[in-house]
Amino acid sequence: MKAHALLSSLLLLSLSGLSTGALADEDKKDPMAHGEKVHQTHCYKCHTDQVYTRENRFVRSLDALSKQVKRCKENTGAPWFEEDTDAVVQFLNKKYYKF
Ligand code: HEC
Repeated sequence: MKAHALLSSLLLLSLSGLSTGALADEDKKDPMAHGEKVHQTHCYKCHTDQVYTRENRFVRSLDALSKQVKRCKENTGAPWFEEDTDAVVQFLNKKYYKF
């Protein structure tokens, strides 16, 4: 009985591992969704979306946005990839900055 229960929870664990892997692949095909998710996970520690919409926001070009995302991302301590930065830049640009 006990061994059987252990076996089925192991099976469940490996199944859920598989499905998160599949999700990550989906994300890569849709940078907007990926950017939104990464942003949600790492970027609300110090500020909310209000910094992107405030009157005196200082980001005035796509290039500046990309630089600022990189600067901020270094403060998160999160392990990021180049494509995560690109996805977040795309997400913020489409939702707020519209360059
Ligand atoms: C360690 C704290 C911290 C974290 C974490 C952080 N930021 Fe920031 N961010 C700041 C500060 C401070 C400013 C400047 C606010 C100001 O000047 O009033 C800022 C400003 C910005 C701006 C410029 C807003 C403008 O004025 O146009 C962007 C874009 C931005 N952050 C994106 C991000 C993104 C994307 C992430 C996640 C990777 C992130 N931030 C995570 C601290 C942080």
